[in-house]
Amino acid sequence: MQVAVIGAGYVGLVQAAGLASLGHTIRLGERSAARLEMLDAGEVPFFEPGLERLLASGMANGSLSFHSDNLEAIRGAEIVFIALPTPQGPDGAADTSIIESVIAEIGPHLEPGAIVAMKSTVPVGSAARFQEVLDESGADATVLSNPEFLREGSAVADFMRPDRVVIGTHDNDAARRMIDLYTKLDAPVLVTDLVSSEMVKYGANAYLAARITFANAMANLCEAVDADVKDVLQGMGYDRRIGFHFFNPGPGYGGSCLPKDTSALVAIAEDAGYDFALLKGVIEVNEDQRRHVVEKISVMLDGRLEGATVAMWGLAFKAETDDIRESPAIAIAHRLVDRGAIVRAYDPQVNADVPGIDQVADALTAVKDADVLVIATEWNEFTTADLGSIRDALRGDAVVDARNILDADAVRGLGLRYAGIGR
Ligand code: UGA
Repeated sequence: MQVAVIGAGYVGLVQAAGLASLGHTIRLGERSAARLEMLDAGEVPFFEPGLERLLASGMANGSLSFHSDNLEAIRGAEIVFIALPTPQGPDGAADTSIIESVIAEIGPHLEPGAIVAMKSTVPVGSAARFQEVLDESGADATVLSNPEFLREGSAVADFMRPDRVVIGTHDNDAARRMIDLYTKLDAPVLVTDLVSSEMVKYGANAYLAARITFANAMANLCEAVDADVKDVLQGMGYDRRIGFHFFNPGPGYGGSCLPKDTSALVAIAEDAGYDFALLKGVIEVNEDQRRHVVEKISVMLDGRLEGATVAMWGLAFKAETDDIRESPAIAIAHRLVDRGAIVRAYDPQVNADVPGIDQVADALTAVKDADVLVIATEWNEFTTADLGSIRDALRGDAVVDARNILDADAVRGLGLRYAGIGR
């Protein structure tokens, strides 16, 4: 099928490269000249395992092309995916103005009968409004919702093996064409109405945020009653209704999606006259988890953060990504700096400069003469680090493992003091 994708961000690029690998012809529209230049040179503007190879093979066999002009990108397209940013506005709600202006721009030039599929996460009811914008532009096209569920760091695998495909539309013919598009993927397809489809996306992210927050709250309580959260969650997880997945306590969830989507859902609920107290609590407890980790570090230093050198392993919001948006690591680092500490950080993938934080090129340099080591991101490299060298390099004797990735007994066995989350 002839498909256009508007927006070469993380969602748009994975969607474009993934669809090209399924045998479709994809024209990708992107306004940023710098980004297009990188893509034309075969480079991916961010770290995402497997994406560079997938893009390269699409470019090599001619099924994937890049365009600076959206109108050129949509030429001949039966389906146009919108993968544009929806930044969080001051009231927590997502701002859809970028999408609206692009829809107004492309509307008059769409092929008759085209589908405009929303990949961006938009407030419930947005797709219906986009349809009005499209109708006003004189287009004969249908807006539908097709939310994405990709995780950064495993987006390519998630595209190829999705848990489900959700399509929100009242138009049976459009639904059938979307099912054809994904026919090579072995996944259940849910066809529903527009609003329900938009809600699936928010509901899934809010539930995941709540689940992590529940694990964090249990971890904090385990600390207070002297229980081991790892065993507690394992004991709970054997119950098949609960399970083990996505249940790891840590410094709180971060990233570009969970924090934004939980706030947006609270705003959606408020607009609809529903007080989503549960989700408000999740957001508050998650914020507090960063403070909790800082307190842990402070306790390990006998309250002397002022002038202390903190080695921080990890700046990305989770492993397998270079993304630092809403990263708990950075929130914690900044709180430490505010309290007079010097933070020296190492992350295997983060290249962006983080103001106020000294970034070094390897894990051992970060630790050298530091008073405490804090593990903020669960990179595999940290899990397998040589603990003896760390002990020798540290000035102090404390390790705060905010991701619970080290063997606490092994750390203590070397004469270091260890604090995890809930252990
Ligand atoms: C999330 C969802 O998982 C995707 O399904 C969704 O498509 C995506 O948002 C989106 O809306 O685009 P992502 O933000 O890439 O994906 O990251 P997650 O893997 O969900 O992790 C989110 C945060 O939760 C990270 O800070 C991570 O460290 C934390 N986390 C995750 C935990 O603290 N414990 C866990 O057990 C799992």
